[in-house]
Amino acid sequence: MSEPIYRTIIEPFRIHSVEPLTMTTAAQRREHAAEAGYNLFQLRAEHVLIDLLTDSGTGAMSRDQWAAMQRGDESYAGSPSYFIFRDAVRHLFPFEHVIPVHQGRAAERIIFGVLGGAGKVVPSNTHFDTTRANIEATGAEAVDLVIDEANDPTSLHPFKGNMDIAKLDELLALRGADVPVVFITITNNSGGGQPVSLANLREVRAVCDKYGKMLFLDACRFAENAWFIHERESGYSEANVEDIVREMASLADGMTMSAKKDPMGNIGGWLALNDDDLAQQCRNLVILTEGFPTYGGLAGRDLEALAQGLKEVVQHDYLRYRITSTAYLGKALTERGIPVLQPYGGHAIYLDARAWLSHLDPLQYPGQALAVALYEFGGIRSCEIGTVMFGRHPDGSEAAAPMDLVRLAIPRRTYTQSHIDYVIEVCEKVAETVHSLPGYRISYEPPALRHFTARFEQI
Ligand code: F0G
Repeated sequence: MSEPIYRTIIEPFRIHSVEPLTMTTAAQRREHAAEAGYNLFQLRAEHVLIDLLTDSGTGAMSRDQWAAMQRGDESYAGSPSYFIFRDAVRHLFPFEHVIPVHQGRAAERIIFGVLGGAGKVVPSNTHFDTTRANIEATGAEAVDLVIDEANDPTSLHPFKGNMDIAKLDELLALRGADVPVVFITITNNSGGGQPVSLANLREVRAVCDKYGKMLFLDACRFAENAWFIHERESGYSEANVEDIVREMASLADGMTMSAKKDPMGNIGGWLALNDDDLAQQCRNLVILTEGFPTYGGLAGRDLEALAQGLKEVVQHDYLRYRITSTAYLGKALTERGIPVLQPYGGHAIYLDARAWLSHLDPLQYPGQALAVALYEFGGIRSCEIGTVMFGRHPDGSEAAAPMDLVRLAIPRRTYTQSHIDYVIEVCEKVAETVHSLPGYRISYEPPALRHFTARFEQI
């Protein structure tokens, strides 16, 4: 018998321990939203039914990860758990130095603490918000050089995370002396969870070589990026994901990592790199704020959980399920006429709020308006990725972001298909009255990263 093909997306695991969800009424949710200043980051998590705020640290760990945690060795220095962690990282990313940190932004703060500073400029395809903030906090400039297709939510380009090579070359020709490092975010989170191709990474590497620059990966979702390469890039359909990851790593000089994403951890991150001097300077900063360089702010048991997570995330059955189940949500919404960023991202589906709430101006924050509506209608927590997140500039001015998106991020191995079917139904309900949703104005905002703590008022 030939291999039968089935339509159902089977979660390649069964459930071993459950967490209760709290049901709320629409009236309660309206009250909670108002109390939170219409900022979903300010909600109490137990007032949320389906939490799609982020895929960061919110995934379910496996039986084998919990078992590995029991082996955690909590020695202050030189713990065996560090070496297990280091070897698991190096199996995929064979960099000389592997420095654990408590999460991704710590790696960013440390590397830009050494490489940043006034007058410097750091290009990327698209910097994530914390990366940008950590660069700008040193006085340096963060520049996004993603290909033009990335800013067209309807473009079906298979690698919308790619760097615009001509723009990178132009920047390096003009300001090469000010550029300490080039970054590439895989997958490109702020651009819609879109992958970067190996062909593009090779071209970026060539431009970096031409100008003698280091290339670093912001590799949070490296396994999802590798799966997209496996599925979409010619010559890789037979390749093993682990080999694709190693090929990506071979093109870079280092990486920052939030282990709260693809490494399946609830906390953690690392900085890995080849340059000995730079690594020494980074370790000195790690000691200052994170801890001794063999634990970097993590418990030994966390390091063990990450080492095991790295083995699980590159499994093809897992990645096939992960990417297919995310696309299931995207496809269902598209079929219902809801504008969704195309192609579907790896870790999230991005609703195009600017297109859907076309009655609102970007400075009335259509993404925020949609995110609040999803919560009030169905208890779904999502995240605005648009003018609230990116509209305020270091010089104090405010302008529309390139896109106003609402991200439905899918925590790893956490929700079942019926949870996702419910999300689809809530979106259908919102669609019935979408053009009467109110816009928002900001009544309070902090000096940086305003989306976390800003308060809003309905217009
Ligand atoms: N880089 C990217 C591409 C990210 O998506 C994140 C976090 C970070 C760096 C920072 O890592 O949170 O461990 O300090 N993204 C989360 C998100 C918060 O919701 O997308 P961190």
